[in-house]
Amino acid sequence: MLGGYGSISSIDINGSKAFLHKFLGEGEGKTGTSCALDCGAGIGRITKRLLLPLFSTVDMVDVTQEFLDKAKTYLGEEGKRVGNYFCSGLQDFVPECGRYDVIWIQWVIGHLTDDHLVEFLRRCQKALRPNGLIIIKDNVSYEGVVPDEVDSSVCRDLEIVHSLAGRAGLRIVHEEQQMNFPKEIYQVHTLALR
Ligand SMILES: C[S@@+](CC[C@H](N)C(=O)[O-])C[C@H]1O[C@@H](n2cnc3c(N)ncnc32)[C@H](O)[C@@H]1O
Repeated sequence: MLGGYGSISSIDINGSKAFLHKFLGEGEGKTGTSCALDCGAGIGRITKRLLLPLFSTVDMVDVTQEFLDKAKTYLGEEGKRVGNYFCSGLQDFVPECGRYDVIWIQWVIGHLTDDHLVEFLRRCQKALRPNGLIIIKDNVSYEGVVPDEVDSSVCRDLEIVHSLAGRAGLRIVHEEQQMNFPKEIYQVHTLALR
């Protein structure tokens, strides 16, 4: 999943925590902490280390049932706070209206076509609670769309990701590059949208 760079997981999670902490809280305009959705969740790496420590309930969605089954063991006791394990492709998934404070979409958009991604993001916007955020964290290419022959995904450049978010009617609230990743892998950017 991390392409043989397992040790970057902690750097990734710490970067994500710092990013989210800019928005979460209780005051005016702050993003709540009742429910998050982990999209393309896999076995729950992000659910376990980022989302369950910050949100009361976390839902997971992944196209692979086997990963969701593994998550039940991997998440341990805290996994009791996973509300729903949805087995679905994001291109078909309809998140419940108004349910989520944060919808986290990491290392999965490359598996969706442009049109499927735009439509999914539109549905995500409807699924946000007040002051909710959609977070996309993913590899970005230097220029254009770069296919990955191994897993049939693509890597888009930042301008293309911006334009797809715009087509979905989303505004970019904040954006950062993940620092301290190895130089030889793609740059990773995090976008907060609503
Ligand atoms: C590279 S892993 C990332 C897992 C997790 N987001 C993380 O960062 O640790 C990609 C995940 O996306 C899932 N996936 C691939 N295509 C998908 C789709 N169309 N809809 C939902 N999940 C998908 C895979 O099953 C896999 O669990």
